[in-house]
Amino acid sequence: MQNHPDLFADTEQPRRSEQIGEQSWVLRGFALSRVEQLLPALESIIERAPLRHMMTPGGFSMSVATSSCGALGWITDRSGYRYSAEDPLSHLPWPEMPAVFRELAQAAALQAGFHDFRPDSCLINRYVPGAKMSLHQDKDESTYTAPIVSLSLGLPAIFLFGGFNRSDRSQRVSLLHGDMVIWGGVDRLRYHGVLPIKHGRHPQLGEQRFNLTFRTAG
Ligand code: SIN
Ligand code: FE2
Repeated sequence: MQNHPDLFADTEQPRRSEQIGEQSWVLRGFALSRVEQLLPALESIIERAPLRHMMTPGGFSMSVATSSCGALGWITDRSGYRYSAEDPLSHLPWPEMPAVFRELAQAAALQAGFHDFRPDSCLINRYVPGAKMSLHQDKDESTYTAPIVSLSLGLPAIFLFGGFNRSDRSQRVSLLHGDMVIWGGVDRLRYHGVLPIKHGRHPQLGEQRFNLTFRTAG
């Protein structure tokens, strides 16, 4: 199993949900029925706002390559982490959030008990084998009342879902193509991260994993 994504994951994975916190859920395969619309929309965003390795305030290049769509995009550079209404590469507004993205995120939020989710930001992270995301909290948004809604596409990942302190023990949750994770309410500020992606080839996306994170940032 280690190196091979499950070839049947697309078609045979039953839809089910797993509760991973008081207000946190993994929705297995939730996005599978919309993948054929999601992938071309993703491709079109990346054509207009190319993926780039952003610099952390500490001066390190992130291992994931990043872009955004929606009114606000999350960025980082030597002066810090923040949301910006324009893509710093082009100085243009970020591409609009496609309806298929917004509707999927809203449906997933609703399924997890969050009504009225209005995402104004979708962060796109591309992981190649070896890329990872260290434990962090999502706390650059102006309020924490809305949940975080995350969609995984492509290669599998081990998602770490921790507590409210970096040193708290993390649960390890394996995420496959089409899975969604939602955390909000009392769990909104939980630490989370992703272990280095293993080598593999996804039938549709090849040697990469995309994670799309929907947020109400402004
Ligand atoms: C993130 O926390 O920004 C990414 C989570 C993931 O890639 O699943
Ligand atoms: Fe995050």
